Amino acid sequence: HECAKVRHACKGHAQCRVPLAGYLCRQQQHPMKFFIDTASLAQIKEAQDLGVLDGVTTNPSLMAKEGISGHDRVMKHYVDICNIVDGDVSAEVIATDYAGMIKEGEDLAALHPNIVVKVPMTRDGVKAIKYFTGKGIKTNCTLVFSAGQALLAAKAGATYVSPFVGRLDDVSTDGVQLIEQIRVIYDNYGYGTEILAASIRHPMHIIQCAEVGADVATCPLSAITALFDHPLTTIGLEKFLADHKKAATAVKA
Ligand code: G3P
Repeated sequence: HECAKVRHACKGHAQCRVPLAGYLCRQQQHPMKFFIDTASLAQIKEAQDLGVLDGVTTNPSLMAKEGISGHDRVMKHYVDICNIVDGDVSAEVIATDYAGMIKEGEDLAALHPNIVVKVPMTRDGVKAIKYFTGKGIKTNCTLVFSAGQALLAAKAGATYVSPFVGRLDDVSTDGVQLIEQIRVIYDNYGYGTEILAASIRHPMHIIQCAEVGADVATCPLSAITALFDHPLTTIGLEKFLADHKKAATAVKA
């Protein structure tokens, strides 16, 4: 367990609380989780086979991309996803009013214990998150672009908050910096809401989010697989195998 002097005291872990004022605790409650951000069953299976997948996030755009529409097909698709991955699966409500969100969210939550009801950051959305929290239903507050919005999501008891890193970068605002800011705020008060870095576009986003202490990164498959590759690994392995073959041939001769 290690605490580095950065900018504030850890209030989350008993070991760091008292003597380390002025220090930031770098130990998260759990290792960083990798979610895949897609509704493609093929891609979810591929990521699952890699052995590093902890969950899935979807949204209405990703469902539409897979051609999934109509109430029954949508519901079946979420169950299919839950049957592939042993981890949280975010399913987003379409309703924008409180009563509609509650009805939809309860139906989604009843599909499978791993379903997390994804709710947009709006006034009705935050109220709905508070309701779901009281009912023990897991939530993911989506479309978060500011620290103030993240604070509201945590106060409502959201299981996850989803700041959109890539979409902030798109408008010349540092998305990773927002993750860092939310980390500081949540650690100041010991909020249990997990920071789920969303709109991840490439492997450096994943690494930067890990550096600043995101709890989860939800990524396209391409960003996850890019983490595996390094030219020196490829060259090194080729050399090991060539040397092994040479030695085997020499023994035979
Ligand atoms: O999780 C939110 C994500 O799907 C948004 O990603 O690339 O459309 O900004 P993007």
